[in-house]
Amino acid sequence: MRLDQFVATSSGLSRKEAKRAISAGRVRVHGAVFKSANSQVPENAEVTMGDEALTLPGSLYLMMNKPAGVISANNDSSQPTAVDLLPPELARQVHIAGRLDKDTTGLLLLTSDGQWSHQVTSPRRDCPKTYRVTLAEPLDEHACQALEQGVELNGEEKPTLPAQVLLRSATEIELTIREGRYHQVKRMLAAVGNHVMALHRQSVGDIVLDQTLAPGQYRSLTAQEIESVGEPG
Ligand code: URA
Repeated sequence: MRLDQFVATSSGLSRKEAKRAISAGRVRVHGAVFKSANSQVPENAEVTMGDEALTLPGSLYLMMNKPAGVISANNDSSQPTAVDLLPPELARQVHIAGRLDKDTTGLLLLTSDGQWSHQVTSPRRDCPKTYRVTLAEPLDEHACQALEQGVELNGEEKPTLPAQVLLRSATEIELTIREGRYHQVKRMLAAVGNHVMALHRQSVGDIVLDQTLAPGQYRSLTAQEIESVGEPG
């Protein structure tokens, strides 16, 4: 696609205004100023105008404060899903980038950009996820150290990668992990003889759950939040 067309479509400027912004040197492709309106924009290029990342319409990036009781799926015939909480025109376009259990609350990312969600969830990208964990029993020092060093999960040979533990109170911790194994947090706590009573995701990478969102509410991610995880596709 030509650069002026890309800028116009993604920013809402007219083609003439887009050409003006390009020739004024306000548009960058992968960080380099492009002044030629008829340059071709490579697929998945990172295009910015001033501080704003430009993405073609159709690429949606949302955060939701997931309530308990909904599953992380696009549709399910028997159970309510997080995607059901979106208006139908958005629900049709997005998928979930990093699932949460039905009873887990907090930060859920939804997008229409498959490449971006791959970057969020890819084990190779090492994206840290922080959970507030309410425990059945106080966490002793020994268990805390074990979580920090890595524990063996039931049925798996490879121990978990080192995690960060912040003690909020005797039975509440903030746990940061860099993997996304099945029921990982609950199984990590089970591995140290404890039990998770409540689990709430606070952040994924630099994206922190917006405290103004009530359970079930959502908002668009900012350009900075989108770019903090990976380049939009
Ligand atoms: N770990 C879990 O056990 N459950 C979640 O929902 C997320 C991480």
